[in-house]
Amino acid sequence: MTFEYKGENLYFDSFNLSKIADDFGTPCYVYSRNLIESNFKEYQAAFGEREHLICYAVKANSNLSILKNLKALGAGFDIVSDGELERVKCVENSCANIVYSGVGKTEAEIENAIKSGVGCINLESRDELKMILAIAKQLGIVLPVSVRVNPNVNPNTHPYISTGLKENKFGVPIEDARELYELASNSEWLVPIGIACHIGSQLTDSNPVIEAVREVVHLAEELKRIGIPLKDIDVGGGLGIKYDNESPPSIRQWVSDIKSCVPSSFRIKIEPGRSIVGSAGVLLTKIIAYKDNGKRKFAISDAAMNDLLRPALYDAYHKVLPCIRKERRPDFLFDLVGPICETGDWLAKRQDFSVSQGDLVAIKDVGAYGFSMASNYNSRPRPPEVLIEMDGTARLIRTRESVADMLVLETKHL
Ligand code: LLP
Repeated sequence: MTFEYKGENLYFDSFNLSKIADDFGTPCYVYSRNLIESNFKEYQAAFGEREHLICYAVKANSNLSILKNLKALGAGFDIVSDGELERVKCVENSCANIVYSGVGKTEAEIENAIKSGVGCINLESRDELKMILAIAKQLGIVLPVSVRVNPNVNPNTHPYISTGLKENKFGVPIEDARELYELASNSEWLVPIGIACHIGSQLTDSNPVIEAVREVVHLAEELKRIGIPLKDIDVGGGLGIKYDNESPPSIRQWVSDIKSCVPSSFRIKIEPGRSIVGSAGVLLTKIIAYKDNGKRKFAISDAAMNDLLRPALYDAYHKVLPCIRKERRPDFLFDLVGPICETGDWLAKRQDFSVSQGDLVAIKDVGAYGFSMASNYNSRPRPPEVLIEMDGTARLIRTRESVADMLVLETKHL
């Protein structure tokens, strides 16, 4: 049981959340190593003997301790910036199992990626190809590349995280990709090794992905016929998790659906983020005050949209549980909001348990795109991150940011 009340106390992965709040303060992100690793292992088991590489999408949760643990299990990494590359390099000596995605890589980023020996750069446009080619030539380094194609498939997800439609900025239109492959393979410096696509995130149905992957395989076969044989089919990430009443396929089912449409001569690369870490994290927050403004009731927490942006940005639902069991009050619905000076600063709406000043609550399923999207808005230092280890101990994996940490890049210019 991931969450359970023992007596009055809420436990997450067998750890009393009130104790974590006592030891590390609030707001505070808490992750379960056990859950993260079992999700990763489920991907591995689903691929079985099939040739594959699981490149964990660093953007979902880029904490170094989490990257280190995944690396130890054999993960490769999907990165989108120099910062993410340097994070991976803190925990991994070789960059061979890194895929570099991202729609706008700068010259400096490309240069560092090439010098670091990144396993594959995914090309997102003809301009990017020209730039990468020039840099590779200048450095005298031959570089493995894939083209990220845009298959124009609707993934049926939130429009902000849909990426595989012609109206989205991502990828190269699939009908233009052949020309880029010809340019790359005719050059001395680029070696095409695969094709990539990623059509969106928080997908709860594998059919759109299957449709996209079929298109990609079709293109790979066409390229083989014209003398450009490829090894990797990179199917991107995207598998959703259950925040509310969604019913996404299991990891096993998702992988099995993908395997069934990729011929076994190809290696499958996959870039999961959310489905590995999403359900493995909670945000602990304390209620600073409760108030009834006549039309609506509010519990104001010490966490805010700067700590967890998903509700404000995507209208995302995250279930909230009181850390000490409370009676249900469906007649007394309240919104959980933060202290930031914006009405959009809310974390959960219409909560139906009794709440009062000083209470501790846990916001569920924030392991992905929680801390990694946190900011310093309203000059609020970012919260600490704590990992519940396999032996049941809770370990700090990122110190709470201090006000001094936030100010240091400016005070030196006064
Ligand atoms: N590969 C590429 C090229 C991506 O753009 C993404 C996510 C992934 C892999 C990982 O996708 P996942 O398995 O996590 O769905 N901030 C949003 C999600 C943005 C996803 C962006 N790309 C959210 O909080 O829902």
